[in-house]
Amino acid sequence: MSDALTAASWPLEPHTAAKLKILGAYLRAWFPIIAQGSSFDRIIYIDGFAGPGRYKKGEDGSPIIALKAALGVPPRENQIPLEFHFVERKRRVSATLKANIEYLKQHRKIPPHIEIHVHERQTFAEAYEQHIRGRLLAHARAPAFALVDPFGWTGMPMQILSELMERPSTEILVNFMFEEINRFIKHLQQEQNFDSLYGCPEWRRAFDLSGFDRKRFIHDLYGEQLRNAAGARYVRSFEMRNSRNATDYFLYFASNNILGLAKMKEAMWKIAPSGDFTFSDATNFDQCVLFEPEPNRQMLRHLIAERFAKQRATVQQVENFVVEETPFLATHYKKQVLKEMEADQALRYLDPPTNRPRGTFASKSAVLEFL
Ligand SMILES: C[S@@+](CC[C@H](N)C(=O)[O-])C[C@H]1O[C@@H](n2cnc3c(N)ncnc32)[C@H](O)[C@@H]1O
Repeated sequence: MSDALTAASWPLEPHTAAKLKILGAYLRAWFPIIAQGSSFDRIIYIDGFAGPGRYKKGEDGSPIIALKAALGVPPRENQIPLEFHFVERKRRVSATLKANIEYLKQHRKIPPHIEIHVHERQTFAEAYEQHIRGRLLAHARAPAFALVDPFGWTGMPMQILSELMERPSTEILVNFMFEEINRFIKHLQQEQNFDSLYGCPEWRRAFDLSGFDRKRFIHDLYGEQLRNAAGARYVRSFEMRNSRNATDYFLYFASNNILGLAKMKEAMWKIAPSGDFTFSDATNFDQCVLFEPEPNRQMLRHLIAERFAKQRATVQQVENFVVEETPFLATHYKKQVLKEMEADQALRYLDPPTNRPRGTFASKSAVLEFL
């Protein structure tokens, strides 16, 4: 039993803190929505590379952030179980994690519907094979969330991600450690690991590329594999650059659920810029959008104008495009973009109700003509 907060010796770097803020913001939105469901008998949360639970100055690590997000959901009658699987390969790190979970238990009442499993001294792949796959199969309809946050590129086979994405309701958040991957991709001893990471042999085409082309290829192939091999309906990636403006990692979010995608994008927009890092949507490098307190309205206008040029579309169709295919949110496009386009006569609102104030788009079935 631990009666003191146990920290790892790892300092929390600003770009890592940003990742954890995103995770917390997403889970604080995701858990309450999912917990309201009635068509499944539990929720399964997986942290495949859990770490110690705390950083050097006592800041929460990913497992504690997830548990606190779950504890923040007001309990209701007949609460369905929420099953946590934390996997950590290293003995000392998993001992620290267990101590930090004990510490949390001493200070916050953990209700009985929250089940915590620490798979210590096991790799993600081992714990998945031995414990987690069985739980997922036994509860095939249970919504699941998996965080895959390694130090490098090993131990996160595309095969496992594919199995996860085959389920009707699974979200995954993958930390794709670009800087390390780019540095080691030509190492001969790493061939098997890269085959497993990508789930295909095509990554070898990176050998002939350099600079931006190589970065783009390494990034895009992983997204394509999540879409095509793993079968994820929605895949977005987000680029974290460090204070030297070098790409540190990409966060990939994959989901089959539009609400999950919307909530993840909201979490991304909450990350305020800082001098220490920049954070942008990198799903399509031709449209890299930096997350800032004020969204880049001109960029969104350009995307909408290009997509719907000379066409008619309902407000709902425009919203679907914004949420599914751009980095922007459903809250960004009406007041900030459609209103301006109507004022500039770049669109026409067909058959408006007599009492409609210009520049408002309350009805989702309203038809707009883009000029
Ligand atoms: C980047 S850290 C995780 C940080 C943690 N997700 C957080 O945000 O607080 C990666 C952790 O994964 C562990 N690890 C490395 N390889 C692993 C594997 N194949 N399976 C499970 N854990 C692994 C390392 O010991 C380390 O603690």
